[in-house]
Amino acid sequence: KEEEQMVRFTQMNQDLLQSGMKAEIFSGILAPVSTALNNLSYTIIVGVGAVLILTGGNMSLGIISNFMIYSKQFSRPIQELANQMSTLLSAVAGAERVFEVLDAEEEVQDEKDAMELTEVKGNVHFSNVSFSYIEGKPVLKNIEIQAKQGQTIALVGPTGAGKTTIMNLLMRFYDTEEGTVFVEGKNIRNLKRSNLREQMGMVLQDTYLFSGTVEENIKYGKQDATQEEVEYAARLANAHDFISRLPQGYQTPLGDGGGNLSQGQRQMISIARVMLNNPKILILDEATSSIDTQTEQKIQEAMNVLMQGRTNFVIAHRLSTIRNADKIAVIQHGELKEMGTHQELLAKKGFYYQMYFSQFQDVSGSI
Ligand SMILES: Nc1ncnc2c1ncn2[C@@H]1O[C@H](COP(=O)(O)OP(=O)(O)O)[C@@H](O)[C@H]1O
Ligand SMILES: [Mg+2]
Repeated sequence: KEEEQMVRFTQMNQDLLQSGMKAEIFSGILAPVSTALNNLSYTIIVGVGAVLILTGGNMSLGIISNFMIYSKQFSRPIQELANQMSTLLSAVAGAERVFEVLDAEEEVQDEKDAMELTEVKGNVHFSNVSFSYIEGKPVLKNIEIQAKQGQTIALVGPTGAGKTTIMNLLMRFYDTEEGTVFVEGKNIRNLKRSNLREQMGMVLQDTYLFSGTVEENIKYGKQDATQEEVEYAARLANAHDFISRLPQGYQTPLGDGGGNLSQGQRQMISIARVMLNNPKILILDEATSSIDTQTEQKIQEAMNVLMQGRTNFVIAHRLSTIRNADKIAVIQHGELKEMGTHQELLAKKGFYYQMYFSQFQDVSGSI
């Protein structure tokens, strides 16, 4: 994968170099050429004038020198235009790219008769789901997972197995190729996207915060929340303490992407955000990176509170999460290898058993 990126990067660099060179050559040539043309016209006027005077034509030195000045005045704007040409062209090229973005296709429209879920309890069913990002390269094959209201489903498996992809299908960032995802017994293709996504909360490893105050970031998704509600959510997320210590508390502006906070703090804010939204279905991507143990513990606590009373899909790395899950779905090469509780899967002595004894049992207690 890294090599592919390298090849693409090199290719793009080559393209950039070539067009850059073309542009430079073109604008480099344009100015001297137009200067040369001017000087040429000058020479012609002088030459023709001289011949006319010498041959005794009806011509005086004054007329010729006037003519020369006129010709200069006439050609100067043209020359300037030529000089501005490259600036103009790059502006046009820029505008083209802007329009490309503006014209980019939006997500597939909702069906005309798209429905809204009324009462969501958190029942999710992946029914025989297959999917590929690129045609002919299947990423998921016949995935069958059922999550009942309030259950925690841990997704485990090697990197690239397809865990994140399963969650992408639930959020309907992509549509299934075969099979159906049901929420509350409804095919999610028949639901309004906005309505579907309102029912879900996501806490990902790398949290994106936008530039705005801490409060605005927590309120994202529930604009009409009161200050009390925001603070309550932040307390549940273990974020209230550190927010209070910020220079302007909840009104502290965050840099783009939340740059002035630590990764752990950003994650706690995103937990507060989801807490406030109070969705029935939760998608968690547990951190693998080593945040300091104290922060890590606070995050874990907050996550545990957040998971109460919801249906949770956890891309799990921590042994504690995996052990306590109602079901563990073991994914490998896009296939559901095994599913069951920790005890059941250990007793089966299959793929999970192997993974458990080769990876889970290291000192840190995570995969
Ligand atoms: N946007 C994408 N376009 C093409 N291929 C992708 C995309 N996202 C993921 N993949 C591929 O799909 C497979 C599964 O990826 P992913 O679901 O992210 O795995 P996991 O979360 O289990 O590590 C990988 O082979 C990955 O390279
Ligand atoms: Mg992933």
